[in-house]
Amino acid sequence: MGDRDFPAGEFGANGPSAARIYHYLLSGEPILEVDRLHAEHLTRIAPHGGVLAQHNRNFLQRAVTYMAERGVRQFLDIGSGLPTAGNTHEVARAVAPDSRVVYVDYDLEAVHRSHDLLAAQGALGSATVLEADLRDPKYILDHPDVARLISHDLPVGLLVVAVWHFVPDSDRPLEVMATLREWLPPGSCVAMSHLSLDDVDPDFRARAVAGMAEYNRVVTDQATPRTRAAFTEFFDGFALVEPGVVYAPDWRPTTAPDLRPAAVPDLRPAAAPDLRPAAAPDPADVARQGIFAGVAIKP
Ligand SMILES: C[S@@+](CC[C@H](N)C(=O)[O-])C[C@H]1O[C@@H](n2cnc3c(N)ncnc32)[C@H](O)[C@@H]1O
Repeated sequence: MGDRDFPAGEFGANGPSAARIYHYLLSGEPILEVDRLHAEHLTRIAPHGGVLAQHNRNFLQRAVTYMAERGVRQFLDIGSGLPTAGNTHEVARAVAPDSRVVYVDYDLEAVHRSHDLLAAQGALGSATVLEADLRDPKYILDHPDVARLISHDLPVGLLVVAVWHFVPDSDRPLEVMATLREWLPPGSCVAMSHLSLDDVDPDFRARAVAGMAEYNRVVTDQATPRTRAAFTEFFDGFALVEPGVVYAPDWRPTTAPDLRPAAVPDLRPAAAPDLRPAAAPDPADVARQGIFAGVAIKP
């Protein structure tokens, strides 16, 4: 199969999904053969995809650690994806074993796999996963499992990491964000990241644009990059913590491996992916500029 002839629309509901493509880029584990084929096809067009995914995942882990070290003990992780090494509950529990987590995704494979992992770890009492759509925040916030695991009297750690680029302006993402912000108790934290083509060098831009066009041609979750200014609007009403909105690898980088040891038994069947700070194929690491990230506090 050449670079330009990956069939679009042939797979219907069984076509590549954002959750499964991202999982493959991170872990090398294809859920469906079509994911492997499409991810490899994409990687030929834009070879930085895997590094970008790893930068993003490492940011998520550092942000969860930051929140847990601030005392946050309850997390709402929307668009949580398929479980992979260093999931939110594992990272949070490495700091605070009593941390509670509600995962949310609209991808059924992500929901089922997350449920299976939590069940295998005996963690379903203090963590759960909902099948829900970020664009219907009231359904999520009013869900009985959210009430069961998240006290409205205590700060919450909200994660919407690498998800907003799947929500086009026509779905009013800033209104969704305002609903989430109003619901969050004072002192809560939010961590978000977003694909962007700002600042990228011309070669990377050409590859990234081509990769995104190809992605959107085949994957049902259409991705729309936003500028840094547009992404920063999602933090309106919050106080950004230092260093503000920056590229994901620049958000409080650590020299230690980002993957925290799990505080619960690791029963994952797949080989553990290496999520240490990304070893970029290119020493200039152009992919570091592909995704903005930030963490903020609700006053
Ligand atoms: C790139 S993955 C990010 C996973 C995880 N947050 C991370 O950063 O490692 C994006 C996830 O968002 C989910 N997603 C996209 N749009 C969504 C929506 N409207 N509601 C719920 N989940 C959504 C996808 O199914 C996918 O699992």
